[in-house]
Amino acid sequence: MRATANRNAGRLLAATALLPALLCAIPARAQDRLPLVPQPSAITRTAGSFTIANGATITADASDTGAAAAARLLIAHVKTERGLALQTSPKGTIRFVRDAAIKGAEAYRLTVDASGAKITASGDAGLLYGAMTLAQLISPDRAFGQPFRIPAVTIDDAPRFGWRGLMVDTARHFQSLPSIYAIVDQMASVKLNTLHLHLSDDQGWRFEVKAYPKLTEIGSIRTSPSTGEKPGTRVGGFYTQDELRKLVAYAAERGIVIVPEIDLPGHAQALVAAYPDLGVIGDTPEVSNAWGVNPYLFNPGPKGIAFVKTVLDELMAVFPGTYIHLGGDEAVKDQWERSPEVQAQMAKLGIKDENGLQSWMIDQFGTYLASKKRRLIGWDEILEGGLPASASVMSWRGEKGAVEAANQNHDVVLSPAPTLYFDSLQSDRRDEPPGRLSIQSLATVYNYEPMPAGIGPDKAQHVLGAQANLWSEYIVTPYQMQHLIFPRAAALAEITWSGKDKRDFAGFLDRVQPQIQRWRKSGLEVADSAFAVGYTLDGTHGDALRTNRAKVVLATQAPYGTIRYTLDGKVPTARSPAYTAPLSVKPGVSIRAAAFDASGQPVAEPRLFETGRQALLTRTASDMIACPEGSLGLRLPLTSEAQGNAPVFNADIFDTCTAYPAAPIDVAKGFTIDIARLPRNWGLAHDFKKVRQHYNVTPHGELLVLVDCTVKGAKPVIAGTFPLPDPKTAPTRFTVKGALPAITGDRDICLQFTSPTSDPFYAVERMTLSETR
Ligand code: ACM
Repeated sequence: MRATANRNAGRLLAATALLPALLCAIPARAQDRLPLVPQPSAITRTAGSFTIANGATITADASDTGAAAAARLLIAHVKTERGLALQTSPKGTIRFVRDAAIKGAEAYRLTVDASGAKITASGDAGLLYGAMTLAQLISPDRAFGQPFRIPAVTIDDAPRFGWRGLMVDTARHFQSLPSIYAIVDQMASVKLNTLHLHLSDDQGWRFEVKAYPKLTEIGSIRTSPSTGEKPGTRVGGFYTQDELRKLVAYAAERGIVIVPEIDLPGHAQALVAAYPDLGVIGDTPEVSNAWGVNPYLFNPGPKGIAFVKTVLDELMAVFPGTYIHLGGDEAVKDQWERSPEVQAQMAKLGIKDENGLQSWMIDQFGTYLASKKRRLIGWDEILEGGLPASASVMSWRGEKGAVEAANQNHDVVLSPAPTLYFDSLQSDRRDEPPGRLSIQSLATVYNYEPMPAGIGPDKAQHVLGAQANLWSEYIVTPYQMQHLIFPRAAALAEITWSGKDKRDFAGFLDRVQPQIQRWRKSGLEVADSAFAVGYTLDGTHGDALRTNRAKVVLATQAPYGTIRYTLDGKVPTARSPAYTAPLSVKPGVSIRAAAFDASGQPVAEPRLFETGRQALLTRTASDMIACPEGSLGLRLPLTSEAQGNAPVFNADIFDTCTAYPAAPIDVAKGFTIDIARLPRNWGLAHDFKKVRQHYNVTPHGELLVLVDCTVKGAKPVIAGTFPLPDPKTAPTRFTVKGALPAITGDRDICLQFTSPTSDPFYAVERMTLSETR
């Protein structure tokens, strides 16, 4: 389930121009270390070089719109990413040439020699990708604005897969057009070619349908939950068809096709809110503000089928690509099961169960799309009632759906959760913004192989490619969206474009650095999570406090660069001591560290680790562990619409309990707990029975502070019971203070809320232990 837990200081210091040299050649390294992502099919280094300086000239036949577009994009990328102004000229040294002998619309040859650079391709996309490769060759980020010498090379390149996709959910949180444009620009730079827009869900309908204006008048706006800083805020938005046509054209110029998704028959509450007679039970729900799975279903009676065909007509008029996505996921069928009208329709059609009805419905639309020379794709649930011949499958519940469908000769796209769910955090760092807590690192994405083992070579052609999905329940701002997409998009690009034999994570780490710099120069937020220094104590916090000595281990998630540190609070430089072994420090020292690449550039923002006694006694929400029965599945923001990246709360949404791990309870005498009240806005459908009810004994429930709560068989010691204030009148955040019992050693302390499960959800922001009462 998308929303639920049980399913799974500034920017980088601008890389300063340390090298004063006027000409910077790419260092003579292994040929696979040209600064290219994704890695091309074949690179042949030849003798000589070609220097590009301000005013370098490009020739593209003005009557060749594809070549002219590729030239424009090359000029734009090189200007932004390398600070060099190229210009068009009839006798340019950079040339775009059509050649039908280069097979494949996306294939190209790039030749660089002393006379210039030549990009040869048969298709528009090939010319564009040749241009993007050349832009990458020109733009390692050093000596910005200075002339640049490219070593002579011939690159022959073509993609492994035709579907290299990214999905953006703009239904849960509406994402502005400029933020979508920014993503389109940067998908093109790494040769991703499919943008799937999730345009409708329970929480919003984002596509203007002229025949059904209430879809956006009513369905695009929702009211925020009653718990939060601004309860009742109206939020939303939609795109007009004109806006989307412009976006489609802009994307097409960048080699990107947009696949629109309207989600049916589940995830349809916004549709039913706008047109209740297209629902099943006849009532008028609100546009939902609860994430997850909600019960409202679309009614596939004659009126509903006609409605969808009209919507499809309007979608097809805006989106010219082959595929239209019609959802099909997570439709709990209770409303269909209990509707006499739907049951009568099933009887009339001779359909035996609700999955069969979903299958019939998908086929109605698949056949309709096929009659217009288009194709339907849906989430893998559409397999459940028998997959209609007209449908292709996007496999998200692992790879099973893809294997089954491909073996039945259907085309498939791999987007398995959790690996390719980009709303999953990429590290367990405290400073990650909200998302799912199932960590999918840069390496995890890079190591994903989109051709499942269960698909034989004779069916391999049915694997169109792979796609990452960015669901937006907890993603509100462009910063948050970009942070989750980049740099993992580079790994996605490489696993979908480059041959399997080209997979080389160490080489990728080297090649992705200049791409990160290019993206930052373009104004994107790019996460440095894989390269930032993280700190762990060798031993417990209690050991450090008792011995007055902290042994601190420094590491980066991805093995890249040399970690350098300071102990005086200063920003580390390439001359700071290199980390070679755990640092043994007296509590109170501030450690600040960053990894540096071979040329002395920092590859992440330096991170600070405080070893003071108070810091060692404090745990924030993201340091909490699960209470024994639970699991922490989500990192939640304070409110549904919160735009900040902090505070965040690691939470088990089935139980309002988290634990302070290994609290040094013999050192600590008292505690302060900062508490936040969050909305409990999850549609849990049949999983609601998993929500733990703890029975309150005071009107609004209590916070129980329980020592030794995670020891099997032991009865926890109650260190405090704090009645919770009235949620209608108390502030959203409040504090309780208490004393700890005299117990020795390091003990887990559970913080269990017993409030009613209707609403709200309580979470711990911070627990601070004190050495005095
Ligand atoms: C999905 O995550 N429900 C496709």
